[in-house]
Amino acid sequence: MMILMTSNFKILHKAPIVSLNGQPVLLFNQQHVSLLDALEQKRVKLFSECRNGYCGACKTKINSGSVNYHTQPLIELEADECLPCCCTPSSDLDLNLSISGVELAPQRTTISSTPSQPHVTTSSPSQVEPNSPS
Ligand code: FES
Repeated sequence: MMILMTSNFKILHKAPIVSLNGQPVLLFNQQHVSLLDALEQKRVKLFSECRNGYCGACKTKINSGSVNYHTQPLIELEADECLPCCCTPSSDLDLNLSISGVELAPQRTTISSTPSQPHVTTSSPSQVEPNSPS
């Protein structure tokens, strides 16, 4: 998790970005009880049963990033696996999950017009180049 210091020494924690195979889908915040809870709110298809780290049904591959467990898992996990039902992201996190059916942020619509022809451009935030002028 990235920590930002302000001039009057308040410590601000950047909300971790959770992505699915490189596609950002959510900002994890204090309202999410677990990573599974946050993913379900975005309609990510992820199987679960016990929701407490006992069964392993929600085991998910991590492409990059890290998690903290609020309940210690009772099953063995590889270094690149997590149990979303009992963890929260401790950094930006990219999971090996399908984005199919996921609710993404609304697309931005830009309307620019020239004297002869109006032009409408639609893009999602992930399609914007980081250094491109807006
Ligand atoms: S649902 Fe059982 S370990 Fe996550």
